Amino acid sequence: MEEPHPGQFYMLEVSKGMDPLLKRAFSLFRRTPEGIRLLFRIKGKGTSILRDLREGTEITVLGPLGNGYPLPSDKESPLVIAGGIGIASVFSLAEKISKKAFVFYGARTERELFVAGELEKIYKELVVCTDDGSCGVKGTVVDAVNDFVRNRDGIHQPVIYACGPNVMLREIAKTAAANGISAYVSLEEHMACGIGACLGCVVKTKTGYKRVCKEGPIFAAAEIVWQP
Ligand SMILES: Cc1cc2nc3c(=O)[nH]c(=O)nc-3n(C[C@H](O)[C@H](O)[C@H](O)COP(=O)(O)OP(=O)(O)OC[C@H]3O[C@@H](n4cnc5c(N)ncnc54)[C@H](O)[C@@H]3O)c2cc1C
Ligand code: FES
Repeated sequence: MEEPHPGQFYMLEVSKGMDPLLKRAFSLFRRTPEGIRLLFRIKGKGTSILRDLREGTEITVLGPLGNGYPLPSDKESPLVIAGGIGIASVFSLAEKISKKAFVFYGARTERELFVAGELEKIYKELVVCTDDGSCGVKGTVVDAVNDFVRNRDGIHQPVIYACGPNVMLREIAKTAAANGISAYVSLEEHMACGIGACLGCVVKTKTGYKRVCKEGPIFAAAEIVWQP
C-alpha cells in the first residue's frame, strides 16, 4: 500500500453495477497500523450504500490521490481549522504536528462534532465551537480564529490549514490575507474520475483553472478566485 500523506484522498467504489456509476471521494482521516480510516457523512445514495456494507465486503479503492498539505517549517506555528466533516481532512495533519498545532473545530451543533472526544485526548490547544452554543464556545469557527489571530501575542509565523464548507474557507482566506498569514485550504468539488482525466473538478485560480483532484485538493488560499 502506498503511504498516504495528510490531505490526500481516496476514490471508493460504491456499486459493482451502473448505479451509482462513479466512485466517491473521501479524505484520509487516520493512518493506523492496520491500514487507513475514513470518516464520512451520509449525503446521498453512495454514502448510504457505504454505510450499509457488511464487514469483509471487498470494494475497489483508488489512492492515495491528490497533493496533500505542505508541512509547516520548524519556525511556523500551525493553526489547524475544521468545519463539520472537514475534520476528516485535517485530522491526520493535526496528529502529525500535534506538539505545536493550535486546533479549531466547529460545527452547527454538538451532534455534528464527530470526533471532538478523540481530539481532546491529543490536544491541549483545542478550541471547539458550535453555532448554537450546544458545545464549546458559541459562534463559528471563523469567529474563534479571528479572535485568536487578533490576540496572537507570542505566536510566531502562524500558518493556516483549513477544511470545511466553501463559505468558511472563503472567510478564512480573508482573515489570512488581512493579517499576512499563509493559508492552505482543502477544496471539495464533485469528482468523476479523481485522477485528472475528465476536468470535471476544475476550480478558478489566479493562474487559470486547476483540477482539484490533481493539482489539489490543497491550494494556497491566496491562489483561489473565491466566488462571492
Ligand atoms: C477531495 C474530496 C474529499 C472528500 N472527503 C470527504 C470525507 O472525508 N468525508 C465526507 O463525508 N465527505 C467527503 N467528501 C465529499 C463526498 O465525496 C461526498 O459527500 C460524496 O461523494 C457524496 O456521495 P453520495 O452518493 O452519498 O451523494 P450524492 O447522491 O452523489 O449527492 C448528494 C448531495 O451531495 C452533493 N454532493 C455530492 N458530492 C459532493 C461533493 N464532492 N462536494 C459537494 N457536494 C457534493 C450533491 O450535489 C447532492 O446534493 C470529499 C469530497 C472530495 C472532493
Ligand atoms: S475528477 Fe476528473 S479531472 Fe478531477
